[in-house]
Amino acid sequence: MIYRLFENNTVLNQFVAEIRDVKIQTDRLRFRRNMERIGEIFAYEISKKLSYEKAKVETPLGVAKCQLSKDRIVLTTILRAGLPLHNGLLSYLDHADNGFISAYRKHHKDGTFDIRMQYVTCPDIDDAVVIISDPMLATGASMKQAVEAILEYGKPKQMHIVVAIASSTGLAYLNRLFPDVSIWVAAEDEELTAKAYIVPGLGDAGDLAFGSKLQD
Ligand code: URA
Repeated sequence: MIYRLFENNTVLNQFVAEIRDVKIQTDRLRFRRNMERIGEIFAYEISKKLSYEKAKVETPLGVAKCQLSKDRIVLTTILRAGLPLHNGLLSYLDHADNGFISAYRKHHKDGTFDIRMQYVTCPDIDDAVVIISDPMLATGASMKQAVEAILEYGKPKQMHIVVAIASSTGLAYLNRLFPDVSIWVAAEDEELTAKAYIVPGLGDAGDLAFGSKLQD
């Protein structure tokens, strides 16, 4: 199932417009904060899919009945670009355990690249609700490897992929590969360049959040 949150007119679309805008992008703090706010909205939307049970809390004046989720949540992301989106998810799903994947594109002289994974750290995911976030979903190659790497840690109760901007190609690819995984997107763009950048997209999400780096 693909959840295209941009189909409703909400403040989410304002945050997406700002992370795309070249003028606003010069403010790195605002870029990271907008990415976090997008993560917070995803967390709220995904919380509608959790299981809840009755609970009681004591207030200074009495006892209030409420519904609380008992699901164990595991948040995972791909370093480094995923960190602000992950932080946003974590600020609403604040009891979550966390996993991290270090992956990068190894570029070749002919313009092609492959995905290199260097490091995965992940808690037990058996029966947990697992959310994997990455700000940009281009070809889907790194997300495919990330999902496969995480699934080596157990059998989750639910799995969700969270992406700020996805290409239509990447979305269709992942949906076909992982039909049981819910995919949540804040924007969908049609075009991918030969170097697998999303157009209009926003540029390089990692550089915009943290500054440029030397290329491999
Ligand atoms: N990663 C990015 O940061 N931007 C893209 O357009 C695609 C992948």
